[in-house]
Amino acid sequence: MAVESPEGRAARRINLDAIAYGGDYNPEQWPEEVWEEDVALMREAGVNLVSLGIFSWARLEPRPGEFDFGWLDRVIGLLHEAGIRIDLATPTAAAPAWFLAANPHVRPVTADGTVLGYGARQTYCPSSPEYAEAAARITSELARRYAGHPAVVLWHIHNEYGCHVSRCYCEQSVLAFREWLAERYKTVDTLNSAWGSAFWGQLYSSFDEIDAPRLAPTGVNPAQELDFRRFSSDALLRLYTRERDIVRALDPDVPVTTNFMAGLSDNVDLWRWAREVDVVSTDHYLTAAAPDNHIGLSLSADLTRSLAGGQPWLLMEHSTSAVNWQPRNVAKRPGEMARNSLAHFARGADGILFFQWRASRAGAEKYHSAMLPHAGTDTRLWREVTALGADLAALREVRGSIVPAEVAIVWDWESRWGMELGFKPSVDLDFRERIDAYYERLWRAGVTVDFVHPGADLGGYKLVVAPSMYVARTAWAESLRAYVRDGGTLLASYYTGIVDENDAVHLGGYPGALRDVLGVRVEEFLPLLKGQQTTLAAESAAVQAATGSATRWAEDLALDGAAAVLRHEDGPAAGKPAVTRHTFGEGTAWYVATAPDPGTLDAILRAACADAGVQPPSGLPDGVERVQRRGADGTVYEVVINHTGTDFVLSGTGRDLLAGGTPVDSELTVPAGGVRVLAVGGL
Ligand code: GLA
Repeated sequence: MAVESPEGRAARRINLDAIAYGGDYNPEQWPEEVWEEDVALMREAGVNLVSLGIFSWARLEPRPGEFDFGWLDRVIGLLHEAGIRIDLATPTAAAPAWFLAANPHVRPVTADGTVLGYGARQTYCPSSPEYAEAAARITSELARRYAGHPAVVLWHIHNEYGCHVSRCYCEQSVLAFREWLAERYKTVDTLNSAWGSAFWGQLYSSFDEIDAPRLAPTGVNPAQELDFRRFSSDALLRLYTRERDIVRALDPDVPVTTNFMAGLSDNVDLWRWAREVDVVSTDHYLTAAAPDNHIGLSLSADLTRSLAGGQPWLLMEHSTSAVNWQPRNVAKRPGEMARNSLAHFARGADGILFFQWRASRAGAEKYHSAMLPHAGTDTRLWREVTALGADLAALREVRGSIVPAEVAIVWDWESRWGMELGFKPSVDLDFRERIDAYYERLWRAGVTVDFVHPGADLGGYKLVVAPSMYVARTAWAESLRAYVRDGGTLLASYYTGIVDENDAVHLGGYPGALRDVLGVRVEEFLPLLKGQQTTLAAESAAVQAATGSATRWAEDLALDGAAAVLRHEDGPAAGKPAVTRHTFGEGTAWYVATAPDPGTLDAILRAACADAGVQPPSGLPDGVERVQRRGADGTVYEVVINHTGTDFVLSGTGRDLLAGGTPVDSELTVPAGGVRVLAVGGL
């Protein structure tokens, strides 16, 4: 599996001639006699890669500076003999008890001043020099010992940075925040102006007066909050790069990753992080209670592929069945684990791994499913695990292929953070809500999307959708402007292009940064009440939905070059345009100034796709997911996942890869709840 970073750094390969299959392996939780059985069962299941040692710091360094690698040597030896490759983890996500006992001030502090205790994991302040030092020491020892080991094909730094503690408000963090600000703004006057500190008389005369945005009498300066989010993401990134650089220096040929939580957590700016890994990997867990939660899975997979610059990536963790941390930990039903796994694969994953290999007997996660359940191998789950291993082996030729997309959705963590700040025009303004609304309609239409950073080169996309781009730096707005001027089609939703990077409004009427491109000028926001609905009337033939409805949001919008496509018939914006279309340069810009009902949104998206020359596939029933991967030799792999209760018949010719490559001469049935992969052309 060759992976090139989005910046084009020299490719580093995971030395594995297969689709990766396996999971987190925590042998330190079990007596040694179990390890041989583990390895034998891994072979039976087709496991070829395990993530090893993620939480083993206390076993590897039982006392400060005293190391015990004997047990790990033996585990690595067993895996190596069995031909199982290793993704070796630095164990720094769980510091030993002795470390916290000796350094109690390293315990993280929350915004309300609560000091978090030991007994879980991630009990450390991301800005603590003592923690960073101790983490660097165990990382060096580990990397020195296993550098060049033929079984170690990937380094796994830490585990889910920022999962539990992403922002710390202790004194050490405040000092580091001040340094970060001094570096960014150079002078305190520049900071005052960027933060708008004249408001509420917050003017600072020295960086030493600045605090973390801790719990305060009322809303803290939003620019301060936004910078604290940036700083906190960077503090974690600095920890990561320090460990990575140690590992790279000692073991330069083996790629390095850290497991992201793409689409699940908003704690770190993954566009910045993705540049720093050799292989992008992510963890994904379904929200069990969400209807059609496989759509959220697809979003995470598409976002991860986008972070990887379109290159194959690894699903580092998901669950075989239930997790243990949701209100009701619903078990996956027969076939669901395979559908989930192959949906990630369809969207570019070249490896499918789980948390974890063997279900724990004790500890906080003992009710979390695993590849090998408490009930052992005479179980449906184990049979499905071994069947999945065989399926992935049969799909080997697909690895390295890429997922083409003509449509991109703008995704930006700064906008997400900005929208989470308080004192907004409406509580219904929600970054994910709009992204999900657009993503879902495109998913149901069978349109594969990439996600893009707002400053990315958009030239390769026919249609760019910006559902929640609240923050618009000048350069980003210019990039979107140039994209449309040069012939692209942009569809922006409300609350896009509103503020600059310091949460200061772009003046002159909303959306200030994109007004000229969209050809509209908004004088005032007119948010709707909870449950309030307005009627939409079609104003032009561009959208074939005569009537529809809208919720959440409306605007006092005037046309300034654009044409009205839909208008509000009632509500606070009665008579005002709700959806507009503007020809700008060689391209077209749509503006959706409300939250239309799904059918109306479909009609708007169809019209924008038509402008862009994007043709959604026809004949795809709702709930049938069809994604293409394309091989370097021209082979097209059609992955079809049937989430419905009815068989689906795919027309086409090729090879049925999950049936040993059996020729298909006109039709392939994808059974209810099943998955098929049709290889077309090539070879
Ligand atoms: C995360 C962690 C794992 C485990 C799982 C449980 O992904 O990385 O160690 O706790 O959650 O779902």
